[in-house]
Amino acid sequence: MNWSPLLRWYAREGRNLPWRKTHDAYRILVSEVMLQQTQVSRVLVFYKTWLKKFPTWHALARASNAEVIHAWAGLGYNRRGLMLRDIAKQVVTKGLPKSREEWLALKGVGPYTSAALTAFSLREPAIPIDTNIRRVLGRIFLGKPFPLLKDDGRIERLAWKTWPKGAHAPEVPQALFDLAVAICKKDPDCAACPLRDQCPASKKFLSGRVRIPKRTIKTANETRHRNKPYPDRIYRGRILAEARAAKHPLISALGPKIDQSFDPQQDSAWLDRMILRLERDGLIRRIDKKRISV
Ligand code: ADE
Repeated sequence: MNWSPLLRWYAREGRNLPWRKTHDAYRILVSEVMLQQTQVSRVLVFYKTWLKKFPTWHALARASNAEVIHAWAGLGYNRRGLMLRDIAKQVVTKGLPKSREEWLALKGVGPYTSAALTAFSLREPAIPIDTNIRRVLGRIFLGKPFPLLKDDGRIERLAWKTWPKGAHAPEVPQALFDLAVAICKKDPDCAACPLRDQCPASKKFLSGRVRIPKRTIKTANETRHRNKPYPDRIYRGRILAEARAAKHPLISALGPKIDQSFDPQQDSAWLDRMILRLERDGLIRRIDKKRISV
């Protein structure tokens, strides 16, 4: 594998993103956790305000649940914000990890995040495999047009053999993020790809015989109540917004606020389940039988 054509393309076409100008582990962790769920254009805004509010590990480690949830509002999946704060607490008490293994040993840091921190902060070779990088590397190394999560082990083993071990160790994954969104999309533009000559999947795509799936299967773990137009996480987000806006909202008044077509007969148990889940996740508290708060 020759990565030079990719690096030349990246020098010309790469995006200028703030977390690419720093080696600071805190800033890189914040950006990577936000990028796991939200598109770059939105993260740019949240990243800046988050760092103003919580500029250091210490500042974040001290933050209450309510402060974190408030600052995370709009990014979705609030548990990730709390997870980020809990990682900051561990860094403050145990010290900054110095290797991929030490990152991985922290609660809340998985294979992807530890690899991203290793590559972008420690500046050592590591392959952070998210959905975008899986797609690009799976096409290059396995020749599969639509690689799956279960292919990660094989992708990592094959890619590692040719992975740059020197100064380009952090640059190749950054370039792959950009290639994934600009060219190596679900329906890729292989004709414009700098890695076309080295990619067995490009032959398949360019022959015109690959069928592009319309939509990937619905997100794992997502639940949806009967007849509701959105998945439950959207309604949980609305409950949380209500809990923040009104000081101690009445549970009995929440239904119609989160859902115009709320039917107390059919939907009360659903509302209770969502409140219970938010409570278990530490995102809201129950003041008494009738009221909640953040
Ligand atoms: N997606 C995940 N990590 C990223 C990064 N560092 N830059 C751009 N997109 C990303």
